[in-house]
Amino acid sequence: MFEVHQLYAGWGKTVVIEDLSFAVKEGQCLSIIGRNGVGKTTLFEAITGRATTHSGRILLGERDLTQATTFQKARAGLGYVPQNREVFKSLTVAEHMQVGSRPGFWDAAAVYQLFPGLAARKQSLGAVLSGGEQQMLAIGRALVGNPRVMLMDEPTEGLSPLIVEGLLEAIRKIVSEGMTVLLVEQQLDVAIALADHCIAIDRGRLVYCGDAQDLRARQSEVEALVGVALTDVRMNLKA
Ligand SMILES: Nc1ncnc2c1ncn2[C@@H]1O[C@H](COP(=O)(O)OP(=O)(O)O)[C@@H](O)[C@H]1O
Ligand SMILES: [Mg+2]
Repeated sequence: MFEVHQLYAGWGKTVVIEDLSFAVKEGQCLSIIGRNGVGKTTLFEAITGRATTHSGRILLGERDLTQATTFQKARAGLGYVPQNREVFKSLTVAEHMQVGSRPGFWDAAAVYQLFPGLAARKQSLGAVLSGGEQQMLAIGRALVGNPRVMLMDEPTEGLSPLIVEGLLEAIRKIVSEGMTVLLVEQQLDVAIALADHCIAIDRGRLVYCGDAQDLRARQSEVEALVGVALTDVRMNLKA
């Protein structure tokens, strides 16, 4: 179980996230939706230790990680795929697979099997990869650390529908291999397709919490509540 209790967090003295609580069971996917600027990335940055946690608690299993440093949190099993991907420009794909790698199911071979497109680019530098390849690489780099929980911040952002479909399939496989995933996703259809549970954030606060079935049943209500648009991906998910 990964849990966040009554979290207040932000940047320096600024509070962005207010009184946010949620829990994710092991091996499940929680989608986090909400408009631009409501604090989704700040939530992830607070969980991973880059933003300021003012109060509340962050628990991974029996471990309280609230006061842990970014490094300690990573060692404890928090894997992070940041929104801006943060691929190393001057390292090759293969070299990325060595950074932060720890023993477990996910090694370079498993990542290449998950993303055959990446396997074909092993010797390419981060700088020359396409957006989709960079995203696969950012996910692969987090995977080889064999974390207990993976935080993915808008992995589909700015990518073509075909690439998005491939990524969704890959994320499904990652979850089915037992990974616990927190997924920030602006497109409700993607959130619905992947999530066991979903929370919505508006202006730093929790405004919706439900399971996938509830979200499907109340989709338009939740859309109106959160104000997220969902036009372009819908068609691709019907296939
Ligand atoms: N690194 C940062 N330093 C200071 N303020 C930030 C930083 N990142 C985001 N913010 C602020 O936090 C608020 C929430 O932004 P963000 O968490 O990025 O929202 P979202 O991911 O939901 O689009 C915004 O007001 C934004 O300007
Ligand atoms: Mg963001």
